[in-house]
Amino acid sequence: MDKIKILLVEQDDEQRKEIVRTLQNVEYLSMTGLANTLEEAERILENKTIDVVLIDSKTDGNGYEISEKLYSQYAEAAIIILEDELHEDTLRKAVFSGAKDVLIHPLIPSKMVDAIYKANQHQKESLLSRKESTPKIRRKNGLGQVYAVFGTKGGVGKTLISINLAVGIAKMTGKRVALIDLDLEFGDIALSLNVSPKFTIADIVDDIRNIDQDLIESYMIAHDSGIKILPSHSRPMMNDFMNAEDIDIILRTLQSTFDFVIIDMPSRFIDIIQPAFAIADKLLIVTTPDVSSLRNTKTALITLNELNYPKSKIKIILNKVNKRDTIKKKDVETTLNADVIGSIISESRIVSESLNTGQPIMAAKSSRTINKDFLNLVKRLTDSSHPIKTK
Ligand SMILES: Nc1ncnc2c1ncn2[C@@H]1O[C@H](COP(=O)(O)OP(=O)(O)OP(=O)(O)O)[C@@H](O)[C@H]1O
Ligand SMILES: [Mg+2]
Repeated sequence: MDKIKILLVEQDDEQRKEIVRTLQNVEYLSMTGLANTLEEAERILENKTIDVVLIDSKTDGNGYEISEKLYSQYAEAAIIILEDELHEDTLRKAVFSGAKDVLIHPLIPSKMVDAIYKANQHQKESLLSRKESTPKIRRKNGLGQVYAVFGTKGGVGKTLISINLAVGIAKMTGKRVALIDLDLEFGDIALSLNVSPKFTIADIVDDIRNIDQDLIESYMIAHDSGIKILPSHSRPMMNDFMNAEDIDIILRTLQSTFDFVIIDMPSRFIDIIQPAFAIADKLLIVTTPDVSSLRNTKTALITLNELNYPKSKIKIILNKVNKRDTIKKKDVETTLNADVIGSIISESRIVSESLNTGQPIMAAKSSRTINKDFLNLVKRLTDSSHPIKTK
């Protein structure tokens, strides 16, 4: 059996010595690299084959951030976080940073060796199934822009915005746009667009080993507005048969197939949708201009910050705006300490008509305020990344 090659990212001399001493005595382990910083770790990962990376959670003040960076760049290695204490959010932070496991000090040699062995096994198995199932998709220029539409308060307008953003971008840019319903329990994109899906995400998960660009498109529904839709399934129980890895594969395949991928998200942080947060170029957080929604959004932003998603990636969309609102855009920006990238007026009649007929608001050209609001949002989002085609 090949030895498991380990990289240790540890700044504390004592701890480094102790870990090296422990692992040196195990026959099937090889201490291949020692690093103090992210840069050193990257250099080693560039030049050597590493199977497992052990990262002290205190490295450079935030080992989870280092884990996330290494995870996104060097998918071959399994990451284990070394943590001083088990806090309520430790596991969640670890999972969201891409780590396979967390070991708590004091490190028990037998447990550490066991965790390394298991993380390596699991990593090799998942890499194998990924190689079999997906074409080699690497993050590179030319991949589509991914926008995840999120918010932790139900009913703020995530679905309405996802649909009209997708249709608006397709119309304005003439590019290929995918809309995916990741509200896996209560998804209503298909219903809102009045389409009867033949296939859903669940079918793709069943076929995940064969997935490629052509296959994923064959599972999607072409909508009259020009976008392609990947609906959520109608059997919530299917969630038990899907995992974050499946969602990751699906999103990466969409990203390599389409110019824009719009993700309608659920109202909760759940592990299965973690890849959407990680892969998204922009996290569009929808809120409404009222105290309860703002309080909720503030908490969501704090969580996103704790999970180390860069602030630059997060933009606010203010929905259901009314001239008479006492809370204005400026107040929202100050309260949330984040940019509002678009405001959408409250228009109950137009919105319910659109939902009743399955015709997206942005499907038709119109001078109505709500259309202009969506148009401005589309412009703000696409201006910097893609030139807009004038039709
Ligand atoms: N700008 C708007 N003006 C008027 N009504 C709106 C507006 N945006 C959304 N709504 C209405 O608010 C309700 C919730 O919208 P939507 O389903 O898009 O929210 P959501 O955040 O996706 O909800 P959920 O958390 O259930 O997924 C719908 O009835 C919709 O018609
Ligand atoms: Mg919704």
